[in-house]
Amino acid sequence: MELSCRTILYFIPLLLLFLSSSTETDEADPSSSSSIISRFQQYLRINTAQPSPQYAESADFILSQAKSIALEAQTLDFVEGKPLILLKWPGSDPSLPTILLNSHTDVVAAEHDKWSHHPFGAHLDQHGNIYARGSQDMKCVGTQYLEAIRKLKASGFQPLRSVYLSFVPDEEIGGHDGAEKFVDSDVFKSLNVGILLDEGLASTSENYRAFYAERGPWWLVIKATGQPGHGSRLYDNTAMENLLKSIESVRRFRASQLDLVKAGLKAEGEVVSVNMVFLKAGSPTPTGFVMNVQPSEAQAGFDIRVPPTADPESLERRISEEWAPASRNMTFEFKQKASVRDTYGKPMLTGTDNSNPWWTLLEEAVRKANGKLGKPEIFPAATDARYYRELGLPAIGFSPMANTPILLHDHNEFLNQDEYLKGIDVYVSIIKAYASHVEHTRKEASRDEL
Ligand SMILES: *[C@@H]1O[C@H](CO)[C@@H](O)[C@H](O)[C@H]1NC(C)=O
Repeated sequence: MELSCRTILYFIPLLLLFLSSSTETDEADPSSSSSIISRFQQYLRINTAQPSPQYAESADFILSQAKSIALEAQTLDFVEGKPLILLKWPGSDPSLPTILLNSHTDVVAAEHDKWSHHPFGAHLDQHGNIYARGSQDMKCVGTQYLEAIRKLKASGFQPLRSVYLSFVPDEEIGGHDGAEKFVDSDVFKSLNVGILLDEGLASTSENYRAFYAERGPWWLVIKATGQPGHGSRLYDNTAMENLLKSIESVRRFRASQLDLVKAGLKAEGEVVSVNMVFLKAGSPTPTGFVMNVQPSEAQAGFDIRVPPTADPESLERRISEEWAPASRNMTFEFKQKASVRDTYGKPMLTGTDNSNPWWTLLEEAVRKANGKLGKPEIFPAATDARYYRELGLPAIGFSPMANTPILLHDHNEFLNQDEYLKGIDVYVSIIKAYASHVEHTRKEASRDEL
């Protein structure tokens, strides 16, 4: 067919219109990968490093994201200047226990001069790695939750159970003004939470890591006293000698725990770790210490991490009988002593078998999203999840980052954009499974058996 000149002239503006609008859509289309990555970068660029996080800016960002996907939002100010943002995607059956997706908004400080890119620049390099403090711990997870919900909403999915998102402050300094206040609140009680998801760790292998418990910090200070004396005299029971006996005993125990890990009998999170973090003794002078006096007091501090699978009573006995025995004129105190049991006296563990449907659902959902899950682990350090487990609630630590070096709190923390995007699809699968989960009642279960 021959086109007349007039027809061609008629088509040109249309073609131009089509071309220009398609490029515009690509940039402005909120579902495009570039938009998703640019929202992540936006969040990363807000400097929420302790000790002076820009919480107002991060709250504004989260609230604007919530608005763009029509989630209900409220700002909870348990402590002035430390907003906790709670978002809600209402389910069709409000009587069912709900899903809580938790993430903390603060990050640890970064030494700018040790980074190859600015820690709050969110630089995307030619390999697709996004460099920023918080790219792994854990702003990634916060925005992945939001992106997953954006996708689910776009697909027309309707949750049966309500899904809540909590963006909490201060996790990096203990969570006392954040998650701890939140779980104590009436607002929290009214949520009727059935399962909590919180942070995990990156995995260097192709398997994602999931955590069903965490070790509780016990910060121990032991103190020795003894007869002071001239630095030249040899006699028994000086404070230094008494303390050294304890330190030797602690070191033997430390080696026994490390041996279990080295032999592959236990994972890092399954043993009691103990590391000496300070030593304090001597009589100071303006230039150093008095060198010819044996001091009457000496102290040492230890960071101990106790898994909920350990027996806390036996560890306490070890401390009072071997590490700081009164018979050696020693005393001890805890600067912090986290409980490894919940309010019902049970070890703070989330079930990883059929007794916990949420675990099985997570495994299935990850598999459906073409992900692999490693053996469940105990988180080696503390996270906000402990406040929820203390109440006896199931909580799973999970940050979908496979094939990624573990760089939390390290220099040059980064996450690859493809890994980030894959993680969103994993959350799509998990949230879908969780939000549509119908619990089998006793009656239904027995009918199934028939
Ligand atoms: C403990 O202190 C007492 C009183 O100062 C002293 O007589 C005793 O020898 C000390 N014992 C040890 C084991 O240090």
